[in-house]
Amino acid sequence: MKILLKNNKEEIGKEIASRIVELINKKPNTVLGLATGSSPITTYKELIKAYKEKKVSFKYVTTFNLDEYVGYKREKDSYKYFMHHNLFDEIDIKDVNTHFPDATNPLAYDKEIELKEIDFQVLGIGADGHIGFNEPMTSFDSKTHITKLTKQTISDNSQYFESIDAVPKEAVTMGLSTIMKAKEIVLIATGKNKRSAIKALLAGESKGCPASILNRHPNVTIYLDKDADPREN
Ligand code: F6R
Repeated sequence: MKILLKNNKEEIGKEIASRIVELINKKPNTVLGLATGSSPITTYKELIKAYKEKKVSFKYVTTFNLDEYVGYKREKDSYKYFMHHNLFDEIDIKDVNTHFPDATNPLAYDKEIELKEIDFQVLGIGADGHIGFNEPMTSFDSKTHITKLTKQTISDNSQYFESIDAVPKEAVTMGLSTIMKAKEIVLIATGKNKRSAIKALLAGESKGCPASILNRHPNVTIYLDKDADPREN
C-alpha cells in the first residue's frame, strides 16, 4: 500500500485526475469505479478541465458508482444527480455507460462489474472507516447489498440535506469483495475527522474498520493531507 501525503485537496485532485487521464488515453474503454461526497470533487473538477482542454475523451469510458441512497425524497438528493451535476453533464460520457447499483436487484451489479472489470476505483472514507456504504462489521466477503447507515454517517451526510430527518436511512452499496476486485484503487482522506479511520486502516485488518480490507489489495494508493495523517504528531 502506497501512502502519499499532499498539501491539500486540490493537489490530490490534480494528481488522481492526471492518473485517470493517462489511463484513458492508453485505454479509451477504461472502466472507472466512482465515489460521491466531498472527497472526489477536486478530482472531478480536474477531469472536467482536462476534457474541456481536449486532453481526454470519455466517449468509450464506463463507470460504476459505489452506492446510491434508498428512499430519497427528491431526485436532487440521489447520488445519480450528484454525479450528473459534478461530472457526467460536463463531459462526453454516454449515459448508457454510467451505472448505479439497483436496490431491487443488488447482486446484478456484481455480475455486471465482473463482466467489465473496474480498472481504477476512486474511494473516500467515512469517519467510521466505511468505504462505499460498508459500515463497521460488514463482512469482508460482502457483495452489493442494501445496508442501514450508522448514526454517524447520517449525521455526517446531513450537511447535504434540508434536515437530518431527510437523510435516507438505507443505501445500496458495492460490497467489500466487489470493491476489492478493482485492478487499482485510490482512497482520498482529508481533514481531522478522517484521521482515526486512517489510523485504524493502517493498523491492519479489522472488521471494525471496513477500509482496512484494502491492506489485502496489491495496488492501493492512499492520498492524505496533513490533518488526516495519523503519522503526524
Ligand atoms: C460515497 C461513498 C462514501 C464516501 C464517504 C466519505 O459514494 O462511497 O464512502 O466516500 O462517506 O464522504 P466525504 O468524501 O463526503 O467525506
